[in-house]
Amino acid sequence: MTVRIAASILAADFSALGEAVATAEQGGADLIHVDVMDGHFVPNITIGPPVVRAIKRVTSLPLDVHLMIADPARYLTAFAEAGADFLSVHVEATPHLHGTLTEIKKLGIRAGVALNPSTPASVLNEIATEVDFILVMSVNPGFGGQKFIPRTLTKIAAIQDILENAKNEASIEVDGGINHSNAGDVVGAGANMLVAGSAIFGSPDPSQAIEMLRLAGSSGLPPTGRKQA
Ligand code: DX5
Ligand code: ZN
Repeated sequence: MTVRIAASILAADFSALGEAVATAEQGGADLIHVDVMDGHFVPNITIGPPVVRAIKRVTSLPLDVHLMIADPARYLTAFAEAGADFLSVHVEATPHLHGTLTEIKKLGIRAGVALNPSTPASVLNEIATEVDFILVMSVNPGFGGQKFIPRTLTKIAAIQDILENAKNEASIEVDGGINHSNAGDVVGAGANMLVAGSAIFGSPDPSQAIEMLRLAGSSGLPPTGRKQA
């Protein structure tokens, strides 16, 4: 198992988005994380399918699109056609989660379930066989640059147990307040995809920041572990 780093462009300079994506790609990021917010499910408004399509044109990295929107089922096709490779929906915004995950997989892309900090791991019990990845929010969604909520570590471990019981080697992605000081603990708890915005784009040397995150994260890997989905 390896640790994958997803660079969140929310912390980038939106007037030079292409350059930010190139910086992340050249710096060794494994995915580009795109935060979609609608001003309803979360209090912020960011970007939609046209921007995802534009990013797709300038990178060969997979696009990891995190939908923080009400009723995400309405927009699955739009984001898949725009170039999403990973698409996550929030369990709190998705009444028919099984059906929505099935739709995402039918579109030929990876289907993820995102959980807010206050949402317990147990919401995954009945859906654990269906997911390609879980996105664990370690801050309240809506803004970059917030502080990591330590309780997340317990939840990651609980999610790993649920996936193991379901015999599903789905990835566990953690999003919010990730830096080189907590990356090892997060991976040690069971995560293998780390989202980082401020830690990468707020650094004077984004390439070095990505490398430090990978090194710090890898220090938390168990000697033998689950394979990644
Ligand atoms: C927050 C977003 C995150 C955010 C992370 O709602 O989902 O992806 O960009 O940013 P940092 O790494 O700055 O906490
Ligand atoms: Zn995100």
